[in-house]
Amino acid sequence: MTVQLRGRAEAVTIQWIPKYTFLERLGHWLHTATFVPLALTGMVLYFPFLRPLAQGEAGEFFRLVHRVAAVIFGLLPIVYYIFQPRRLLLHIREFLPRKEDIGWLKAAPAYYLLGKHEVMPPQGRFNAGEKLNGLVMMVTWAVFGLTGIPMWFGKGVIPPELFRWLVVFHDLAMIVAVCMFLVHLYLAVAHPLMWAGLVSMRFGVTSAEYAAEHHAKWYYGPKRAMEIWEEKKREAAHH
Ligand code: HEM
Repeated sequence: MTVQLRGRAEAVTIQWIPKYTFLERLGHWLHTATFVPLALTGMVLYFPFLRPLAQGEAGEFFRLVHRVAAVIFGLLPIVYYIFQPRRLLLHIREFLPRKEDIGWLKAAPAYYLLGKHEVMPPQGRFNAGEKLNGLVMMVTWAVFGLTGIPMWFGKGVIPPELFRWLVVFHDLAMIVAVCMFLVHLYLAVAHPLMWAGLVSMRFGVTSAEYAAEHHAKWYYGPKRAMEIWEEKKREAAHH
């Protein structure tokens, strides 16, 4: 694709490479569209200062919204598994932590806060931060389901002591998932280096230039990516 940037005489050519399928993008946005109301209605039931809202008709309404959103939220990964099982398994494998993620953690403050690109070791299709987000979302999805379904249908049947533990784990899952979500939202929407993430979640593609810079291991393969990184570090040391 060729674009003409304002203030630049020559046209810039962008080469796009595929990153997400249509189902993955639809799933991502439906996940967001159900997660946010689930978190908001959950908070109404959780925070004591919001408790007046959880009474009477308003309370009934919030509980209904929570349940309707929960059904869609719960079904999304199952639909994904039915239609694109290999892609789901690929993502689960890619999200698993590896030793090299420690390199990302160590470099992240200088990279994100000071803009020092040369300190960041080459990353795969997802960097360690994105993998953490994926992993937290998968684990909390399972915890929400395993605790939420018995909370929904087991009132009066499940022993009260066990029921209380279900609620505690449901609440803990909310705290972890919402904290992760806020970091993810900031990086995706506000951070100046991360603009291409939103493009790929909307259109399914990423620019080759962005992939080479941010996901070098995926773009070049591990060996070439390491060579390029070593060169970059040597150059930075000379300046
Ligand atoms: C499979 C998904 C989910 C299911 C089946 C589910 C189900 C439930 C049910 C049945 C309740 C009890 C509501 C009542 O009192 O009538 C509840 C409460 C709650 N849910 Fe969920 N939920 C799910 C996902 C989520 C998500 C994604 C969040 C937050 C991000 C969340 C946060 C909460 C909170 C904070 C409460 C209040 C618990 C308390 O009383 O302390 N839930 N949920």
